Amino acid sequence: MHNDIKEVLISQEEIANKCKELGEQLTREYDGKFPLAIGVLKGAMPFMSDILRYTETYLEMDFMDVSSYGKGMRSSGEVKIVKDLDTKVEGRDLLIIEDIIDSGLTLRYLVDLFKYRKANSVKIVTLLDKPAGRTADIKADLIGFEVPNEFVVGYGLDYQEKYRNLPYIGVLKPEVYGGE
Ligand code: PRP
Ligand code: MN
Ligand code: MG
Repeated sequence: MHNDIKEVLISQEEIANKCKELGEQLTREYDGKFPLAIGVLKGAMPFMSDILRYTETYLEMDFMDVSSYGKGMRSSGEVKIVKDLDTKVEGRDLLIIEDIIDSGLTLRYLVDLFKYRKANSVKIVTLLDKPAGRTADIKADLIGFEVPNEFVVGYGLDYQEKYRNLPYIGVLKPEVYGGE
């Protein structure tokens, strides 16, 4: 285990099993369709890679980079588009892929944007859901794991851009971010 991690919340093996399960669910969900899978950079990168290899339909991939946290611990409440899609979403079936829903501001913003751009359907798959953090009205269609109100890192999730490469979801030692 990494020295900055207090506890492993979700192991590498649990994540792998869940990705297979969710990927197979997506196969059934999008059978006969050609969805556009949208990864929300940067956090969703490992999860997107792992679930889509179990999704056996035709699909297209694109990426959007939106940032709401910056370098802090909490959402600033502002969502900023850093990189927009390359693909037109009008009439398409969209699958937004996220690592975590916390306040829900990022996804609320994206879903509203894609509806405004006339997507045919918008679904959300998230690896983690932290219901205690929610301020915006948003729910995922598929959820991997519910997590408690702790600052979790790893498998795409960062603190100050670190820990995204950990193969598990862990809780940071309080001394790493200066108490709380
Ligand atoms: C994090 C996380 C989600 C979002 C969730 O991304 O990856 O995208 O915040 O928070 P919310 O529900 O409160 O909006 P962040 O903006 O830190 O960018 P990153 O993915 O590049 O780390
Ligand atoms: Mn993110
Ligand atoms: Mg972040």
